[in-house]
Amino acid sequence: MRRSLALALVTTLVLLAAACGGSSNETATPETVEGEIPQQTVAEGDPAAGKEVYSAANPACGSCHTFSPAGSSAEVGPNLDESLAGTDKQQVLEAIVNPDAEIAEGYQPGIMPKTYGEELDDKQLADLVAFLTES
Ligand code: HEC
Repeated sequence: MRRSLALALVTTLVLLAAACGGSSNETATPETVEGEIPQQTVAEGDPAAGKEVYSAANPACGSCHTFSPAGSSAEVGPNLDESLAGTDKQQVLEAIVNPDAEIAEGYQPGIMPKTYGEELDDKQLADLVAFLTES
């Protein structure tokens, strides 16, 4: 008697587990997340306003970077005409507010100022990123 009760219990558990297993395939969210999930999302910006930010920032981006839509041709940092191709807005924002997190190949950390995240407000940063990625 005891044994068949135990068997019935096991059978029920197996059936339950099978039922759960079937539905878990339908979850829309991945269960394992690799890497970091970006905390900041980049708002839509105004490229024309971003052009102003590019030259009004202190120090001006154009004092170190070449970027032809802005008419700047300095060579201290990477040529943004070339290096921004294929990057997304989140990466560009990250490169501006946290420049030492990832260093462009062939360049030294500590040269690009780390102050822009404080100096520029969210709108100015969104505009600047729009200018850099949409021009
Ligand atoms: C004092 C010089 C200097 C100034 C001013 C400066 N940068 Fe930079 N920037 C650098 C250097 C050097 C690097 C390469 C090292 C690194 O990746 O941080 C760089 C990297 C970058 C990158 C990443 C490029 C890549 O190929 O990954 C972006 C984007 C960028 N700067 C945008 C800006 C913007 C926008 C401004 C103005 C708000 C600015 N920089 C101001 C020197 C400067």
